[in-house]
Amino acid sequence: MTIPEFKLERYFARYEFVAPYLMCSSDVETMRMADLLELADGPTREIWDDLTLGYTEYPGHPRLREEISGLYADIAPEQVTCFAGAEEAVFVTLSSLLQPGDHAIAFWPGYQSLYEVARAAGAEVTLIELREADGWAVDMDAVRKAMRPNTKLIVVNAPHNPTGALIPPRDLRILADLADDAGAHLFGDEVYRLLEHDSVDRLPAAADLATCGISLGVMSKAFGLAGLRIGWIASRDPEVHARAAALKDYTSICNSAPSEVLALIALKARETILARNRALVTENLARLDRFFLDHSDRFTWVRPRAGCIGFPRLRGDVPVEQFAEEMVERAGVLVLPGTMYDHPGGHFRVGFGRRNFSEALERFAAAL
Ligand SMILES: Cc1ncc(COP(=O)(O)O)c(C=O)c1O
Repeated sequence: MTIPEFKLERYFARYEFVAPYLMCSSDVETMRMADLLELADGPTREIWDDLTLGYTEYPGHPRLREEISGLYADIAPEQVTCFAGAEEAVFVTLSSLLQPGDHAIAFWPGYQSLYEVARAAGAEVTLIELREADGWAVDMDAVRKAMRPNTKLIVVNAPHNPTGALIPPRDLRILADLADDAGAHLFGDEVYRLLEHDSVDRLPAAADLATCGISLGVMSKAFGLAGLRIGWIASRDPEVHARAAALKDYTSICNSAPSEVLALIALKARETILARNRALVTENLARLDRFFLDHSDRFTWVRPRAGCIGFPRLRGDVPVEQFAEEMVERAGVLVLPGTMYDHPGGHFRVGFGRRNFSEALERFAAAL
């Protein structure tokens, strides 16, 4: 199997653990394990205390799958399969659903694995461009035109990385119908779900919309628990789970036992954790809005509506990669150049989910 380098991850590999201020992270501030354990209710604390460290059930701990199913309107626990993070779920699900001769549709700029894994599986991928001038909206006519008789997958990431944009619910419904009519699946990467800045903006999950819908979720982003490496897919199509399970036998086999229980604790305490994280994100976003207002001569800014990342554009002639490098060297502040998404437009990804954001932004502003 050949697959190109994951540019964004390689960039993080260079800087993530050396730059003092990460101002482009896509996850919110994490927490100490001791603080998470404090949130455990009695019965879940007992599961934690009695935990043994053998292999676990391949689709995930039954209590964990039950709790995850509660995030959806119409998903049963057996319609959930867990993975090591969302990334394993993307790899396994896309690889097991696609083969040479198939066609898939995805959007760009976007999270690289969402189209690269499809290509590595042998599928031809149509990338539909999202444009800043359109507020990063999905061009639905382009999707309709891109559909082919061999289209097997439409991949939509909402809330979106890197723009924080949300597709209108009506358009999401149309994507589900297009997939359904074509006998394809709609793969909804919903890893930033639950982190809408206004909860009325929460979209229906792909898995709830249609039998062909697959929802991807994870503990990393809205919960800030990326180190657990617990992600999942939810789908009402049993074939999706069967195929994924057969491939997962070649990747992780089953999930980390401690991580499963820690994820269960976090999901049961979700109202507390999510309220804290949403407050942090909205507070930081207000700071960022003020910053971009004050510096509108230097940057453009389409305000994200969910998650903790956005995709501003650097005005002028300085290449954005050079700008990002100068910022990390002079101010210790890491932003992610859009070139890591193969995007040529002078954009960079900014992240506003961390507690030291205000200090990072001050240093960034001073270094300008
Ligand atoms: C859109 C999207 N999907 C999937 C992932 C993978 O998530 P994880 O790192 O939790 O496996 C990410 C991580 O940044 C992402 O942004």
